[in-house]
Amino acid sequence: METIKVGIIGCGVIARAAHGPDYKKLGDRVEIVAACDIVKEKLDSYCEQFGVKKRYSTIAELLGDDEVQAVDVCLHNNMHAPTAIEAMRRGKDVYCEKPMAGSYADALAMREAAKKYGRKLHIQLAMIYNSSSFAAKRLIDSGDLGRVYHMRSTGFRRRGRPYVDGYGEKEFVSSRVAGGGALLDMGVYHISQLLYLTGNKRPLRVVGHTYQELDMDSARKAASGYDVEELIVGMVDFEDRLSMDLIESWAMNLDTLEPSCILGSAGGLRLNPFSYHYTKHDVVFNAAFDEHDLDFRSSTVHSEQMFYRNSQAHWVAALRGECPLLPTAEIGLNTQLIQESLYLSSDLGRQVSTEEVIAAGRSNMAEVAGLY
Ligand SMILES: NC(=O)c1ccc[n+]([C@@H]2O[C@H](COP(=O)([O-])OP(=O)(O)OC[C@H]3O[C@@H](n4cnc5c(N)ncnc54)[C@H](O)[C@@H]3O)[C@@H](O)[C@H]2O)c1
Repeated sequence: METIKVGIIGCGVIARAAHGPDYKKLGDRVEIVAACDIVKEKLDSYCEQFGVKKRYSTIAELLGDDEVQAVDVCLHNNMHAPTAIEAMRRGKDVYCEKPMAGSYADALAMREAAKKYGRKLHIQLAMIYNSSSFAAKRLIDSGDLGRVYHMRSTGFRRRGRPYVDGYGEKEFVSSRVAGGGALLDMGVYHISQLLYLTGNKRPLRVVGHTYQELDMDSARKAASGYDVEELIVGMVDFEDRLSMDLIESWAMNLDTLEPSCILGSAGGLRLNPFSYHYTKHDVVFNAAFDEHDLDFRSSTVHSEQMFYRNSQAHWVAALRGECPLLPTAEIGLNTQLIQESLYLSSDLGRQVSTEEVIAAGRSNMAEVAGLY
């Protein structure tokens, strides 16, 4: 079977820490044939580390390379949409880092471009492949939870704002480049996991409150122009009487938060780590499962499950025609709608309908136009 030829766009932290190593683990199923970055040192060291033959200093040059069949967009958020759309227009399939884009309108434009140009579009939503998701999906789809009516999306860091607290680059905390803070950076994983597990239902009404309250290193604050939220709380009403409450923290004065959960009439689940709670014969059960056994069986008896245990592995398998591509573009888009509705609600100080956000059609692509 063919080796998929990938081009990496943006040779920064995530391309180096995850995408490069994850492609290497897939052996001759995939090859990184080209890479691109505007910073020559990053490009050179990336290509040396991962044995990449072709080096480009502009996105346009990489997109003009006919050997590149699919691109992997590892740029900052507001650059996802223009890059992905141009790549699909030029006939490339696209794998894109999360969040899907810097705004809902831009994410929608990506999904529309995929349809228009007949290309595959995959968004990196890592938590849908973890063992919690694997077990939860089976229980929910088989009806063991009964009617699923509420979910809680949580993410906790005590002092983990990118750059100003130590880790990551300045771009994460600039609304011009990233589009938002904790919600777009971490919340995207937790919300998308819940949407994936519960059928990606349509959000209708949203209330959100964003906060930036804790002090930070003043030199790093000035250098980065920090202007995004460190904490967000919210509530979302979906179709079919499903609700979700949410708290996502980059920084807060608390030692821990309980992980995300899903409540159903016949059972409940906690995720990351997983536990299953139900009542049988009037006895209350709290159950876990054996992750080691799952991993062993996935890699032996049910080897096809390996296409669903890692985002890169899934993407490459889908490009090789070995499995259908999960609807990560649809889930990423819905996640983005919820996120933008939370921000709008916080800005306006009232509940908003998702229709308002869709109608507003706010694009952040123009913000980065000068970078091309
Ligand atoms: N860092 C993480 O832990 C992490 C984790 C998951 C997802 N992500 C996502 O990955 C994306 C990138 O994050 P990162 O941390 O790797 O950022 P980064 O700043 O380390 O990397 C971005 C790279 O893009 C390059 N670049 C900028 N403009 C360019 C242009 N016009 N042409 C070519 N290259 C250009 C930069 O030089 C840089 O090397 C973001 O969307 C982020 O949300 C990051």
